[in-house]
Amino acid sequence: MSPKNKIYLSPPHMGSMECDLLMEAFDSNWIAPLGPHVDNFEDEIAKYIGIDHAAALSSGTAALHLALKVLVIKPGDKVLCSSLTFAASANAIMYENCFPVFIDSDPSTWNLNVNLIERAIIRHNPRALIAVDLYGQSCDYGTISQICKKHNVAVIEDSAEALGAEYKGQKCGAFGDISAFSFNGNKIITTSSGGMFLSDNEEYVEKARFLATQAREPEIHYEHKELGNNYRMSNLLAAVGRGQLQVLDQRVDARRAIFTRYYHALAQIEGIDFMPEADYGKSNRWLTTLTINPQITGIDRTQIIQALEKENIEARPVWKPMHLQPLYKDCEYITKDRRDISRELFVKGLCLPSGSSLGELDQDRVIDIILSNLST
Ligand SMILES: Cc1ncc(COP(=O)(O)O)c(C=O)c1O
Repeated sequence: MSPKNKIYLSPPHMGSMECDLLMEAFDSNWIAPLGPHVDNFEDEIAKYIGIDHAAALSSGTAALHLALKVLVIKPGDKVLCSSLTFAASANAIMYENCFPVFIDSDPSTWNLNVNLIERAIIRHNPRALIAVDLYGQSCDYGTISQICKKHNVAVIEDSAEALGAEYKGQKCGAFGDISAFSFNGNKIITTSSGGMFLSDNEEYVEKARFLATQAREPEIHYEHKELGNNYRMSNLLAAVGRGQLQVLDQRVDARRAIFTRYYHALAQIEGIDFMPEADYGKSNRWLTTLTINPQITGIDRTQIIQALEKENIEARPVWKPMHLQPLYKDCEYITKDRRDISRELFVKGLCLPSGSSLGELDQDRVIDIILSNLST
């Protein structure tokens, strides 16, 4: 018997438009960095988000790194950051020799607990906060902006996972002094690898473009006064991104429909709890995530992942929080009442296959395996 087709966690989902635009870029010979597709991709994404300026970069990590550089965060400065995230959010802080201070999650959103921010600011006097829109869900930016403004702390919105999601009717990526998106291969839309730096502040975006092109001064020869990076997006990848952006809303609808199907099949089982959707926003449901309480279900999330793997299906644990990573074990971590919510979410949390091209039959395969393992 041939093995069943592999189901990936979140594979790229390409259409014909991407190919047409890519071929157009190819035929025009705009292969080298930059070109008309880069300019158009920046304009189109800024318009979609409702923000004034955007700079297309080589990755979301590059966007976060440049955010700290543009805000002139200095070595030794402290930067607050959600603990429950992918390492890239925190690594950007380390690139600039700054100190991350991690903040625990709110169990009702899984995002950073906004009630801990003021305490963290008073205790650590940070220069900036990196707020992560986890698994496609917006943070509570009304509260975050109010506290950070009061204490003059810059907000960097790490919206790498949340393109197309909303906070109070406005798109994520519009709420930081600077915001970042990722277009890596597993994101809701992809350019294979890529990222975007966004801000309403034109100077910030100009500075990001300058730093991203090796901080080359506008001279006829190669003149450098500052340390730059090679972080720009190529015209070929921007062409792919423009095609992907045209179907983004369909991708959000598809991921939300996938979440809803999982929810209807599994939510009634005692011991299973899906990541809640905050009432202030609309998640893009980049990944369907849930927790499994092994004391109730008799099986833990790792056993479920292994059972799925045996059937050629990729599932993953929820992010391992940064304060539990060996790299960051000596960093400060702010929690409420000593309860470690992000750790609990990691220990029990599971991400299910959620790609927008996942068909119902394949989704049923995932659901059936989970159900059969829960009942054994
Ligand atoms: C929350 C978060 N921040 C940052 C990144 C980094 O983006 P990239 O892989 O494009 O560098 C990712 C994804 O990889 C992410 O999930």
